[in-house]
Amino acid sequence: MDRYGVFGNPIGHSKSPLIHRMFAEQTGEPLSYEALLAPLDDFRGFAQAFFRDGKGGNVTVPFKEQAFELADELTARARLAGAVNTLKKGDDGRLLGDNTDGAGLVRDLTVNAGIDLRGKRILLVGAGGAVRGVIEPLLAQQPASLVIANRTVEKAEHLAQVFDSLGPVVASGFDWIDAPVDLIINGTSASLAGELPAIAPSLIEPGHTVCYDMMYGKGLTAFNRWAEEHGAARTLDGLGMLVEQAAEAFFLWRGVRPDSVPVLAELRRQLAA
Ligand code: ATR
Repeated sequence: MDRYGVFGNPIGHSKSPLIHRMFAEQTGEPLSYEALLAPLDDFRGFAQAFFRDGKGGNVTVPFKEQAFELADELTARARLAGAVNTLKKGDDGRLLGDNTDGAGLVRDLTVNAGIDLRGKRILLVGAGGAVRGVIEPLLAQQPASLVIANRTVEKAEHLAQVFDSLGPVVASGFDWIDAPVDLIINGTSASLAGELPAIAPSLIEPGHTVCYDMMYGKGLTAFNRWAEEHGAARTLDGLGMLVEQAAEAFFLWRGVRPDSVPVLAELRRQLAA
């Protein structure tokens, strides 16, 4: 059995062990996958000890930047994201750092939700680590525009500058924009506190605009409730992104692409129960 796990602190509520065990069962891959509570003051030492026999890992809050530092090699998308959510030990013992979050979001939007992002006006709300990880994969879909709006506008301006050469990306303050867009993606952590980013409801064109919250929970998130109240055509939450980033990681490790559909359905069922 090859050993895998997810590093985080806290880690108790992580759904990654459940997801990867379902993937392993479905594909017949001989692997174990565990939740790994890494100490806040020694992620590096803890991870190095795991990788003496461990083959790969996922990385969650608050260690994605430290995993970026730990990796011996980085994929292009991890370098652009500035963070690593997937580590793979090579046959030579070197650690490859990847970031599958953006690919997971794009796959959830394009495959699971069937939305063609090409030519779309996209508003990305937030400018933290979660947002940084999805900018390049979104730009690769060739939207008409990608506006990054953040409460602290300087952080959005910094990101727009970093990704400027990759596509039509601009920064904004919350109160600079009010014209409708095709897709709003909430990448702030506001929903965690039951709060809303203070963006104009007129950004939603009733019956047309799709709203996506990278957070998820039992029932609608605060952002998606707000979106429904203002007539969003559809609201989607981040459970699909979670499963798809895991599927991308599993593929990197094993070279086999699991079927995410039944796994997402099972997680949705458990969340509702
Ligand atoms: P993460 O890694 O999850 O992105 P982060 O780097 O701490 O976490 O970033 C959190 C993001 O959520 C930031 O964009 C933050 O806005 P600021 O940069 O202005 O702090 C945003 N955020 C958190 N709570 C918010 C709220 N109540 N309203 C608007 N934005 C909020």
